[in-house]
Amino acid sequence: MILSKERSPRNKTIDVSAAEGYRLLGRCVRLSRPAEMSEVLDRTIVGDTFEAMDMLPGGFADLLIADPPYNIRKDFHGVSFMTMTDDDYRAYSASWMERAARLLKPTASIYVCCDWRGSLIIGDLLARRFKVRNRISWQREKGRGARRNWKNGMEDIWFATVSDKFAFNLRDVKIRRRVVAPYKANGSPKGWEMTDSGNYRDTCPSNFWDDISIPYWSMSENTAHPAQKPEKLFAKLILASSNPGDVVFDPFLGSGTSSVAAYKLGRHYVGVERNETYCAWAERRLEMARDDKRIQGYIDGVFWERNTSAQQKAAGGARGRHDI
Ligand SMILES: C[S@@+](CC[C@H](N)C(=O)[O-])C[C@H]1O[C@@H](n2cnc3c(N)ncnc32)[C@H](O)[C@@H]1O
Repeated sequence: MILSKERSPRNKTIDVSAAEGYRLLGRCVRLSRPAEMSEVLDRTIVGDTFEAMDMLPGGFADLLIADPPYNIRKDFHGVSFMTMTDDDYRAYSASWMERAARLLKPTASIYVCCDWRGSLIIGDLLARRFKVRNRISWQREKGRGARRNWKNGMEDIWFATVSDKFAFNLRDVKIRRRVVAPYKANGSPKGWEMTDSGNYRDTCPSNFWDDISIPYWSMSENTAHPAQKPEKLFAKLILASSNPGDVVFDPFLGSGTSSVAAYKLGRHYVGVERNETYCAWAERRLEMARDDKRIQGYIDGVFWERNTSAQQKAAGGARGRHDI
């Protein structure tokens, strides 16, 4: 299955042999009739999400993370998603959203990823059915250059809830930043801490996320999926908008990022993906997560800003958490 070329020893991209792939696929579920919760909890469902969602029990999900195909031509290893008209993409998005809505608890939160163009449609559709709370802009750094336009260097993640009753754990998603102008009151740091490796403060995260890069070949979470999201990104969503033991649902699971992040953070997961290779990668990542629950950029309960060195993290992480 999958990647066979010679590669650098530092390349950690996850690969599985054909035999491994079949073993891992054997752990996934295929639905042909309405399922009980016990049959799908903490499982990867192989199949078409439009059919699978109709067979899942209603009202089970505390958190929906949806990362659907964006409205651009993209090859998902053999199955291409073709660009649609805006009207068709609206109908497509409304159709999966309608199905997903049935699966949500009244206290559930919803995050939907999209690019700037899809954002115009997704934001509007969410507002018609749910309570839209915010739109996060993620500066993803890499993007394809364009000759006669600005390069796409960001993505949107819409945040909505089913009702006014929802979880939001602000203390769990603070971000540790270096203090540029350390202010002191009566000779003592005001709202920041002095450490051997520098001065830091834990700040409330805004809706502009510039601390997370896409997965690279040197990162152990990396697969060859063409649109894989970083674990750190979904970890933030999960920590803020669910509690331990809650169920995270992802109707477009891809390489399994939401399930892996949910598992590492003590949540349950259910994910649907139609591509068998991606399902195998997801299962491999879940297997790896049994022994290693680290999430790159998230250490000792703290999210670190981009480009913080390992030494700084070690020194700054050792001093525990504080709030300002
Ligand atoms: C943007 S990717 C998701 C990437 C994922 N968040 C990750 O980190 O790997 C969208 C995924 O949806 C899957 N997909 C698209 N249409 C689908 C459908 N009708 N049923 C199930 N999966 C589908 C694609 O195969 C692709 O892996």
